[in-house]
Amino acid sequence: MSQDIIIRTENVKKLYRLGDEEIWALKGISIDIRRGEFLSIMGPSGSGKSTFFNQIGALDVPTEGKVYFEGESLFDLPESKQAWIRCNRIGYIFQTFNLMPVMSALQNVALPMTFQGASREESSARAAAILERVGLGHRLHHKPFELSGGQQQRVAVARSLANTPSVILADEPTGNLDTRTGGEIIELIKELNINEGVTVICSTHDEKMLAASNRVCWISDGQLDRIIEH
Ligand SMILES: Nc1ncnc2c1ncn2[C@@H]1O[C@H](COP(=O)(O)OP(=O)(O)O)[C@@H](O)[C@H]1O
Ligand SMILES: [Mg+2]
Repeated sequence: MSQDIIIRTENVKKLYRLGDEEIWALKGISIDIRRGEFLSIMGPSGSGKSTFFNQIGALDVPTEGKVYFEGESLFDLPESKQAWIRCNRIGYIFQTFNLMPVMSALQNVALPMTFQGASREESSARAAAILERVGLGHRLHHKPFELSGGQQQRVAVARSLANTPSVILADEPTGNLDTRTGGEIIELIKELNINEGVTVICSTHDEKMLAASNRVCWISDGQLDRIIEH
């Protein structure tokens, strides 16, 4: 597989069973995601965006098909290597921020670094630098409930960068923000994409995301409808 392809999915399908009901949330998605691109995934609610994210982010196993991450078949790797990829190669951003409520901004961003084995001093210093980078140098010791929604999402963006990932997976990162604040978060993520060279994959309903995207992939009912180059 070419070095330029960071993630490849081959005919990825996902079946959920809920009692007697079977739901094919993904019906065979094949896509090559290019290293360094900003890819948006657009689709109505229930179309399978989060399910797709879980499969390419090593958070859930497809029912059928393969996911290659940096050339390796993700779910054929030992669990320890998958965990290493989650911690070191992928940064996750969620619609509802998912910060640790009892921890300060600094502690939230430092946490993935300590998981990776960094000392407390080193992780605090690096976390402070990243928070500075996302415009929150003045809010290091605030807890999530002491921050606005936009600031909380900035902390989540900073946390996603903690272990210098090659990919940021953002699942509706502006879904809980007002238009202006959402726009600022998109600008921030785009800036990281350009300046740090990190690949960004973003699911969204937000039309503003389209302008930041190199490609937009439209899905409906678990299937890839079309991919548009911008
Ligand atoms: N854990 C689950 N168990 C059963 N069905 C699920 C589960 N998660 C999602 N689904 C179903 O799969 C489909 C796709 O959901 P999802 O990936 O969350 O869509 P989106 O993120 O685009 O809104 C929906 O029909 C949803 O109801
Ligand atoms: Mg979703």
